Amino acid sequence: MKRPEDLLSISDIADGLPALLARAETLKRLRARGRSPTPLKGRSVAMIFEKSSTRTRTSFEVGIHDLGGEALFLSAKDLQLGRGETIADTARVLSRYVDGLVYRAYRHSDEVELARWASVPVINALDDLEHPCQIVADLLTMRERWKGKFRGRRLAWIGDGNNVLHSLLLGAAAVGLDLVAATPEAYAPRPEIVTAARALARASGAALELVHDPAAAARGADALYTDVWVSMGDEAEAAQRQAAFRGFQINARLLQTAAPGAFVLHDLPAHRGEEITDDVLDGPRAAVWDQAENRLHAQKALLELLLPRPRR
Ligand code: CP
Ligand code: NVA
Repeated sequence: MKRPEDLLSISDIADGLPALLARAETLKRLRARGRSPTPLKGRSVAMIFEKSSTRTRTSFEVGIHDLGGEALFLSAKDLQLGRGETIADTARVLSRYVDGLVYRAYRHSDEVELARWASVPVINALDDLEHPCQIVADLLTMRERWKGKFRGRRLAWIGDGNNVLHSLLLGAAAVGLDLVAATPEAYAPRPEIVTAARALARASGAALELVHDPAAAARGADALYTDVWVSMGDEAEAAQRQAAFRGFQINARLLQTAAPGAFVLHDLPAHRGEEITDDVLDGPRAAVWDQAENRLHAQKALLELLLPRPRR
């Protein structure tokens, strides 16, 4: 697999996803036996977070440590970035100390700016446009449950046309997984992402469908996936979103219409009683805890892919 410079979008690793997922499965097995490889020995990774995080921060810190490296958590509030130092200057300075940068940003354009000026790889840990690390873990979770095969499976997204759906559209299209996404009309995914996903789908043979009816999307699906109605950064629109998304909920009734054995995904954190009900999230069909665990294994495979190279 060709090593990408950075991981800003999941499309940066579209060709390499099958090999990356296989490697993540191997790393998961090795870790269970206490035999994780240590390719990051003597290397450091700085993690800049502008927004809250439970899973991404912890799984990256533990994953970097497993691989023999050192993780530095840098809250954007505490950096001089929070007082107006530019992203370009921050990137140039941090690149002199560390071997990679993990960045959770409000704006995708800031991810691009950091990557432009950094001389070490930048990994997008979520922004307003994409959440690529999440989708590598999600594909790993589906692959485990479907015994390695995406072809002929159908995943239904119920909810917002947000960062997670954007990366999912691109990731599903890259691996040949059929995806039907039901969003309210006013919250459809961005057209430029849909165009890019359709180009990948043409090559892989995946079917991508965008609809506005959750029931139509869920019927016969092999897995259902949802995310919060109000993402970080969208708080000012909370009231109008609560109204627009009513009906876009994964509950027992909707799950009953999916294929027998269908499972439920959620990237978490969940807003219980909004996009998903307690009984589904706490029930036997929820794959969400495996999905959260798989962040660790997926990101270790990503770190291995992006970081082991001479410093530029
Ligand atoms: N799913 C996810 O990225 O969770 P955190 O916001 O807790 O990192
Ligand atoms: N769409 C959500 C994902 C959180 C992990 C957000 O951006 O807040």
